[in-house]
Parts: sequence; C-alpha cells; structure tokens
Amino acid sequence: IDISKLRSSTEGLITLDRGFKNTGSCESAITFLDGEKGILRYRGYAIENLAENATFLEVAYLLIFGELPTETELDSFHADIKKESHVDEEMKKILDGFPKSAHPMGVVSSLTSALIAFNPSSVNVDSKEDMYQAIVKLLAKFPVICAWALRKSKGQPFDYGDNKLSYVDNVLKMMFKKPNEDYEVDPVVSSALNKLLILHADHEQNCSTSTVRIVGSSHAGLFASISAGVSALWGPLHGGANQAVIDMLEGIKEDGGDTKKYMAKAKDKDDPFRLMGFGHRVYKNFDPRAKIIKKSADEVLGNLGVQDPVLDIAKGLEKEALEDDYFVKRKLYPNVDFYSGIIYRALDIPTNMFTVMFALGRLPGWIAQWREMRLMKEPIGRPRQVYTGETHREMKPIEKR
Ligand code: ACO
Repeated sequence: IDISKLRSSTEGLITLDRGFKNTGSCESAITFLDGEKGILRYRGYAIENLAENATFLEVAYLLIFGELPTETELDSFHADIKKESHVDEEMKKILDGFPKSAHPMGVVSSLTSALIAFNPSSVNVDSKEDMYQAIVKLLAKFPVICAWALRKSKGQPFDYGDNKLSYVDNVLKMMFKKPNEDYEVDPVVSSALNKLLILHADHEQNCSTSTVRIVGSSHAGLFASISAGVSALWGPLHGGANQAVIDMLEGIKEDGGDTKKYMAKAKDKDDPFRLMGFGHRVYKNFDPRAKIIKKSADEVLGNLGVQDPVLDIAKGLEKEALEDDYFVKRKLYPNVDFYSGIIYRALDIPTNMFTVMFALGRLPGWIAQWREMRLMKEPIGRPRQVYTGETHREMKPIEKR
C-alpha cells in the first residue's frame, strides 16, 4: 500500500521504521531484486548474462534509458561522452590543495561537487535533453576525477586518456599509464574490470542510491546528488566494506591466519568486530554478485599468475561461516564486497581506491535512479520522526542555569 496517500486522513499517524527496513521509498522500474532467492536483474536482464556478455557502457545505457542500445545508439552515446571528457584545468588547483594522503573517496566526492562550478548548466534540468547533457558530462568527467585521485595519491602526473579506447580501457589508461612509457591494455585486466563494474552498476534503493534520490528530490543538480552518493558509499557498512575486507583479511594473515579466532570475535556481541563482506540488508541467500566475483577471482588471479594468500583465508572464512549456526540462523552470506578487493589487488589497484572503483561502477545506477526520480516528478523526500524529547520548557537566563 502507498501510505503517503493516507496523509490527510491519518491525523498525525506516523509509521516508525528505523533503517527503513520495511519501507519502500519509491516505485522503480530499474533493478529487480529477490533477496530470498538471490536474484538480481537490471531492467529484466539477468546479472549473470550481462556480466558475461555486455560491455559496461551498454549496461550503463540499459540502466539509464531502459533498453539495450543498438550499435548506432551505443556509438552515438559513446561519441557524446567522449566530447565531454575534458575536465577544466582549474580543477587541478583544487586537487593540488589536498594532501597526498587524502582518502581518494573524499577527493572524488569533493571534485564531483566542484565540477558544478565549471558546468553550471548541469543544474537546471527541465527537459530530457537537459538531463541527457548533464548525464553524458558526468559519465565523461567522473572517471577522469577518479583517475586523478589515484595519481595524486601516487604522486604521478595526470594522463589525458585516449578517446580511441573503449570506456573501460580508457579508465585503465588514465589510471595506469606511466609517464614516458606506452600503455597496452591487458585484455585479462580489461575484461575483469568490465565485469566488476557491471556487477556494481545498480542495486535498487541501497544507502547511496537513496541518498542520490533524496538529494536530487530537492532539485539539487545531478552532480551534487552524485557527490552525496559518493559520500554515502564511503562508509564501511556500505561500499567501504571492500577496503575493510582486505584490511581484515590482511590482519588475520598477520595474526597467524587463525580464522576460527575471528569467527568467534564476529559472534561475540561484546566485541565490535564484524565479519566484513558478510551479511546484507536484502539478500537472505547468496548474493548472486558474490558468486560471480568468487569465480572471477580464481580466473583472474590464475590468468595473471598472481598468488594471493588472502584468497585462501577468504575461502576458509566463507567455508566456516556457511557451516556455522550463528551465520546460518541469521542468513549471513558473503556479499559483493567479500571477493572484489582480491581482484582489485590483483589488478594493481591500491586498497584505498577500492571504494572509488565501486563508485565508478555504481555511477550509471545512481544516474538512472536520479533520472527516473526526476521524470516521475517525485515529491521532495522528507521523512517524519517520532519525537521523544521534552515538548515544552521555559528558558532560564544563562546566569540562572
Ligand atoms: N558479522 C557478524 N554478525 C553480523 C554481520 C557480520 N558481518 N552482519 C550482521 N550480523 C548480525 C548482527 O549482529 C545481527 O545479529 P542479532 O540478530 O543477534 O542482533 C544480525 O546479524 C542482523 O544484522 P543487522 O546489522 O541487523 O542487519 P542490517 O540489515 O541492519 O545490516 C549489513 C546489514 C550492514 C550489511 C551488515 O550485515 C554488516 O554490517 N555487514 C558487514 C559490512 C558489509 O559487508 N557491508 C557491505 C554490504 S554490501 C554493500 O553495501 C555493497
């Protein structure tokens, strides 16, 4: 039922649902998720099929506009993005103001917001065409900013990319090309990143997506909404979990690899430790993305000839958790973040960039959700509260308190 329609007849009745565990915030035709069965589909297409057979840009088009593109549509979409790939040189001065140690998620969120100053026409989007212009601008400039954040942390000069490359290969070049050296895209790396980005591209009304929609519902522009989404994604209970998983696995390795000890900590209610990369608000079965990523981690590490001892620790933890009463009873399974960091590491992506990679993948989903929200003329998001404080107090002058 749509309880928002009952407002006038409920005379102050307010439903309390902390964490919105059971509250729908909108109607959406973008992503279908069945958490009990472990099903995820974008616009009706199975995630397994898209991850295997589509390019990230095709999936971006699908999510945003609702249909898989024809070749002509995809070419023209990509051409429009390429035309916007320049980021104003003045933006580099802002980047220069950050310390080298700045977390890349903070840098990306700030620079996404700063982009508004250089692209003011992206704010007032009253028609589909205005929206389209703002969307291609962001799809073009966001990866540049992400690559800048990485290069800043490594103290490397920026790379301008190469518009002859595919969207994903261009991201790789902007991130990894060394000065004065040619850069050949490794097909294993390109295909692994393509798959990871697709798997992260949308996940209905999660914390960052709800943030994007609620910020956008005030008619703040697309870039401001996405900047807020990046900040929401940063937290370790959401996208930041991919960095937290690797930190945890490294910690277990350095502590002698005793997974049982950490399983016991995760179950101890007096210990704040949680098994990062486990559990999900909606999946009460295997996260279908985790299944694909686990298989992909084995393939990518094998193809690149990388041996990573934390992969064995991860598999050990998963096996123990799947046989453990605590985890079984609470239906806690590995989520998308459990194995993704192991692949990012094999691709030579530093740990503090993992959540930025997630943001790059989630960008089309955020955009699609923002566009849908605006096209459906959603009202401003404004939850109510159940007030528990004093209702009326007399103020005493300061000397009498
Ligand atoms: N380790 C140990 N216990 C856990 C874990 C975990 N990772 N996750 C949940 N639990 C326990 C809780 O303590 C709680 O136990 P209780 O019923 O005895 O109190 C029960 O399982 C239910 O957990 P909640 O926290 O109530 O579930 P919620 O839906 O609010 O949280 C969340 C979901 C945030 C994902 C949680 O499982 C978690 O913190 N996981 C670790 C962080 C993580 O991997 N986040 C990434 C999620 S995927 C994504 O955002 C891309």
